[in-house]
Amino acid sequence: MDAFVIKGGRRLSGRIRVGGAKNAALPLMAAALLTDEPIVLHDVPDLTDIRSMTRLLAELGCPRDDEDAERPGRMRLRTIDRSLIHARYSLVSTMRAGVCVLGPLLARRGRARVAMPGGCAIGQRPIDLHLRGLEALGARIELEGGDVVAQAPHGGLRGARIFLGGPFGSTVLGTANVLCAATLATGTTLIESAACEPEIVDLAALLSKMGARINGAGSPRILVEGVDALGPAEHRVMPDRIEAGTYMCAAAITGGELALENCPVDALMALNSCLESVGVGVQTTGGDDPMRARVRITPARTLRPAMVTTQPYPGFPTDLQAQMLAMLCLADGNSVVTEKVFPERFLHVAELTRMGARLYRQGPTVVISGVPGLVGAPVMASDLRASAGLVLAGLAARETTIVRRVYHLDRGYQRMDRSLASLGADVVRVDDRDLDRIDE
Ligand code: UD1
Repeated sequence: MDAFVIKGGRRLSGRIRVGGAKNAALPLMAAALLTDEPIVLHDVPDLTDIRSMTRLLAELGCPRDDEDAERPGRMRLRTIDRSLIHARYSLVSTMRAGVCVLGPLLARRGRARVAMPGGCAIGQRPIDLHLRGLEALGARIELEGGDVVAQAPHGGLRGARIFLGGPFGSTVLGTANVLCAATLATGTTLIESAACEPEIVDLAALLSKMGARINGAGSPRILVEGVDALGPAEHRVMPDRIEAGTYMCAAAITGGELALENCPVDALMALNSCLESVGVGVQTTGGDDPMRARVRITPARTLRPAMVTTQPYPGFPTDLQAQMLAMLCLADGNSVVTEKVFPERFLHVAELTRMGARLYRQGPTVVISGVPGLVGAPVMASDLRASAGLVLAGLAARETTIVRRVYHLDRGYQRMDRSLASLGADVVRVDDRDLDRIDE
C-alpha cells in the first residue's frame, strides 16, 4: 500500500486545472445502461472508483470501448448484452456508488440484483430512500443473500409521486436512481425533496440529451415525463467541485496563492463564503461559464475562526468538512464545525489531535481551539475526504507527516501527490513497506 511522506511548511503557489467530477461521472456512466445506443463522456477522471464502475458496467454487458485507452478522459460505453443484471458485492463494496446501477437496470431490463453496499468508514449509509422511490414506481423489492433483488411490474415501471426526504435531507444517489428509472416509466413522475446537488443537474443534462423529458433538476421538485426509449448522447462531465475546494483549502492552509482553471465556482458558494469569512481571498478572474471559471485564491493575513455546518447543497458540502476542519485548526480563535449530513464523519479528528490540533467532539459537533502550528506525525487515512484533510494538515505542519493508506485518496483525486508537488509542496509517494523498513 502507498503512503505520502509530506515535509510541511511550504506555501503552495501556481496554477491547477480542475478535472471532471467523480461524483458526477459515476451516475453518468450508469445511465449508459438505459439505452443500447452509445454514450460518450468527456473529461472522465482517471480514478480507482471510475475503474471499478467501468468493471461493473462491463460485467453488466455495457463495456467501455477499447479505443478510449488512447484518448485520456474520453469514455464510450455501449450496451451489448441486456441479460446481465447482477452487480456483485465484491465491486459494490469497494465503491458505494455502484448502487446507482439499480435504477437504470430496473428501468431498461425490468429487473436488477445489486449487492447492498453496507456501511463504510463515514457511517451506516442506508439505501432505504432509493428503495422506497423505486417501489413507488411499482418495483417489487426483496432482499436475498445480501443483495437487493428488484423486479419491475408487467408492462414496466409506472410514473408516481415520490417523496425522497430522509432524516438528513434528501439523497444524492437515491435521486439519481429514481430519476433514471422515471425516464423510462409510463406517465409522469414527480420527485419531491429531490437532491439539488449540481451532479444531479449534470445527470439530468445527459438524460435530456438522450431524449428524456425532465424539468426542475437542481430544485427540490423534479418532474419527469416518461418516454419509450432513450438514444445516443455525448456529454462533458462537470468539473469536480470537491477537488477544486480541496485545492482552495490547501492553498489557504499554507498561506499560498493559487490559480484554478475550469473551476465550478458557481457550485462552491458556501465554501467561498466561508473562506472569505476567515480572511482568504476568492476572486473570479475569468471564464464566461461560472461552472468553468478561472479563480484566484489569495492568503489570509491571519486565519480567523469560523462556524461551519455541513448541509445538503447549496449548504456547505460534507465532502469538504475534513479539509475545512484541518484549516481551522490553525485559526486565531475557536471554531465550531457541525456535521448534519453524516454525523459520524469525524475519523480525522483523532489523527489531527496527534498532530497537535486541539479538538473537542460532542456528537456531530467539533469545537476547534486554534493553535499557532501543527507538528508532523504518522497518521492513518480512513476515508477519502478524511485523508484529504490529513494531507492538508501535513502541508502546513512543521517536520514530516506520513499519511498511510492513500488508496482512499486515489479513489477521488487524480495523483494528488503530483498535483501538490507541481504547486511546490514536498510530497512523495512511497510504498509503505519501505516505511516499515525505515521504522525498524
Ligand atoms: C453522495 C456522494 C458523497 C457525499 C454525499 C452527501 C457520490 C458518489 N457520493 O453520497 O460523496 O458525501 O452524497 O453529499 O455521489 N440516507 C438515508 N437513506 C438513504 C440514503 C441516504 O437515510 O436511502 C442518508 C445518509 O445516511 C446520509 C444522508 O442521507 O446521512 C445523505 O446521503 P446521500 O445523499 O444518499 O449520500 P450518497 O448519495 O450515498
